[in-house]
Order: sequence, then C-alpha cells, then structure tokens
Amino acid sequence: MKANKEQWSSKFGFIMAAAGSAIGLGNLWKFPYITGTSGGAVFVVIYIVFLLLLGIPILLSELAIGRYAGMNAIDSCARVHPKWGFAGAFGIIGAFGVMASYSVVGGWVIKYIINSFTDTGMGADYFTEYSAKSFEPILWMALFLIITCAIVTGGVANGIEKVSSVLLPILIVFLVGIMIYCLTLPNAIEGVKFFLIPDFSEITSVSDFMHILFNAMGQVFFSLSLGMGTLITYGSYLPKDNNLAASTVIIVTLDTIIAIISGLAILPAVFSFGFEPTEGFGLIFKTLPAVFSRMSGGTIIAAAFFILVLFAALTSSISLLEVIVSWVCSKTKLTRLKAAIAVTSVIFITSCFASLSVGAIPDIRIGSMSLFEFFSFFSDKIIMPLGGFFICILTGYVWGINNAAKEISNDGKLKFTMRRLFSFAIRYAAPLLIAVIFVSSIISIVQ
Ligand code: TRP
Repeated sequence: MKANKEQWSSKFGFIMAAAGSAIGLGNLWKFPYITGTSGGAVFVVIYIVFLLLLGIPILLSELAIGRYAGMNAIDSCARVHPKWGFAGAFGIIGAFGVMASYSVVGGWVIKYIINSFTDTGMGADYFTEYSAKSFEPILWMALFLIITCAIVTGGVANGIEKVSSVLLPILIVFLVGIMIYCLTLPNAIEGVKFFLIPDFSEITSVSDFMHILFNAMGQVFFSLSLGMGTLITYGSYLPKDNNLAASTVIIVTLDTIIAIISGLAILPAVFSFGFEPTEGFGLIFKTLPAVFSRMSGGTIIAAAFFILVLFAALTSSISLLEVIVSWVCSKTKLTRLKAAIAVTSVIFITSCFASLSVGAIPDIRIGSMSLFEFFSFFSDKIIMPLGGFFICILTGYVWGINNAAKEISNDGKLKFTMRRLFSFAIRYAAPLLIAVIFVSSIISIVQ
C-alpha cells in the first residue's frame, strides 16, 4: 500500500473539484423532479434535516478517512482497520448504477443543446416522444460516454477542474436569472408554495411518509456523492493543514444552494404552465423549453443553459468513471486507456437497456420499476446508504471519535467546535436513521 503523493494545488481547487463532483444532474435534474413526486415542501424540509444528520457528518468522515490514510478508498478504509477495506468498495458497483442513468440523461441534454440551436419546436409531448425512441437517444448517450471516457483517459481532468471553476459561477448566475424569470410567471406563486410551505396533511399513510424519507435519504447521498468512496479519494489528496470541517460546510452549502435555486426555478414554472409536479424524470425536459420559448432570445439562452448542464454533468461523470477505472488499473495489467474503454463499454451496454426501458421497450422492468428507474434505485437507495452506514460504523466505533477528531482538528491545531454533535450523528443518529429507513423501505417494496 502506497500513500498518494499527489495533492490539490490549492484549497480553492479542492473545493471546486469536490463541488464539481457533487453538483451535477442530481441538483439540476433530479432534485426538482424528486421534490415534485415526493410531496413538495415536506420533502424539502426532510431533505435539509437529513443533510445535517447524514450528509455533513458522513462527508466529513469520508474526507477525514481519506486524508488520514492518503490512499484510494478501499486501502484507506483498510488502513483504519485491516478488515474494513470493504467499506470503501461500494463505489465500484454503485458507480455502474449511477452511470447507467447519468449517461441516458446526459444524452438527452446533448440532444436538447442541438435542438436549441436548430430551434425545432419542443412542445410538452416532445420529450415523451423523443425519450421513447430506440436509436437516437442511444446515439447521444454514446457521445456523452465517449466524452467522459476521453476526459478520463486524456488526463484533461485537471483542465476540467479549471474550466469548471469558471463555469460553476456562470451556471449559478444563469440559474438565478432563470429562477427570477420563472418566479415572475403567472401563477408562479403556487409553485413557490408547493416548494416552501410544507403540508403534512397531504401525507395520508405511513407508507407515503416512508417513501418520502427513503427518497430524501437517497437524494442526500446522491447529491453529495456520498457512500461510494469518492470523497475518501478526494480527501486523500488534501494537505494536512486543510480545515476539513470548514471544507465540508462549504461543499454542502454550495450543493444545496444549487439544488434549491433549481427547484425554485422549475416548480413555479411547472405550476405556471399547468404541468404536473408529479411528472417524474422528464420534468425539466418538459418545463424548461416552455420557459425558454417565452423569453426573447430564448433559443440562445436555452442552448447556453443546456451546455452548462452538460458541463455540470461531465464534472460528475468523470469522477464516477474514474472510480471504476482506477480500481481496474490497480487490479489488472490493463493500461489506463484500455481499462477506460473496457469499463465504458460495459456501462454503454447497461445504459442501452436503461435507455430502451424508458419507452421503446417498456417491458424491460424489474418489479414495478423500469430498468432506468431500477438502476437509480439500486445505486442511490441500496449501495450508497449501505456504504454510508459502514462509514458511520467505521468512523464512530472502529476508528473511534477520538482518532477521527484528531484528524479533523489537524492534531488539535484547530478547534473542532461541533465535536459532540458530530459524535452523536455519526455514532447514533445517522446509522440508526439509515438502518430504519432502509429496512422498512425494503420490507414495503418486497411486500
Ligand atoms: N453528486 C452527483 C450529482 O448530484 C452525482 C455523483 C457524482 C455521484 N459522483 C458521485 C454520486 C459519486 C455518488 C457518488 O449529480
């Protein structure tokens, strides 16, 4: 086992890379639609509670484990305790699941960029018709995968971090602009209410409520890139003087701001145009073209916006592919290029089935879920919570709060003010919550 010698060039660079992995389709595409299908503001409130109880402590633990050990996710966990390497291994399977839906949606985004330029009318039915085609969505999905693979093998990943440090602020400005525009649409206030004012009376059964908890938990893991060793790996490149707790708060805040702005742009528009908030994964693809078509200069704004979405998606997808590729390279004699091509090919095949299951061949199902939905379910709701659960146990009991606090406080040089809260969350609140939600949801699905 060899420690990493590489390090982030600056604190800002690290924050941008971690935020680049966190901020992606999870914030721009998934958060608005999951909020829509999970009861609006009730979901948002639970999401924020889970960010505090699960997101922040697990993210901080992952960074601490990574920096302490300075190795890849599996070896870092094994350094904490020789029998615990498996806790860092969830990313390898999970990344396949995330990539399956990511590349399908990435392909849709590319198609929408092209359409914005050619200005083919994208009415409300356009998305349903397009996503149900068999061949074309696979073509653009393949392009998304090829770009991701090229960046990972070409080693321009560092360049991407530089580009994203510029594009991320531009994305924020754009999103805020779109949000302000959407908030001024007729009837937008209904969407704002749906998003911000919780109506617990809408929840009529325990299973409804469990469903919302399960979705909120999955979304916290997915959006912050947790439970899959990604942040252990990123932490391993951190210098010993970085303030881990402060970095954690910045990453979580940035990720959450983007998700909330995105929700406050989409949902008011949904209500204004009379779409259904429960629409599901097509929500932004149906709503945004309607918004852009009302704006003067809308085609250019649409193209620019979807290009920014594509960049946000790529900075996440390269971090996902990298997880698998670096593992394959360390276990086999394949060169980086061959490993990347092999892994991308496997992802391509699974993604083809996912893409076809959206409409062309709707019979590809597992239980009540299409394969597309199943892949997200498997990664966000099975693999990531399990990975997160083991990180809690590893940090809270095996490594121990004292050792973790030593790492987090840089050997006592920094004051770790939230230590007791952290200890409570990582030892009790987070693992218990994950276990209860996980088990009861699995039971309700199996029944
Ligand atoms: N967090 C990303 C998003 O919100 C998705 C993602 C990228 C991810 N890397 C990850 C999720 C690693 C889990 C683990 O779009």
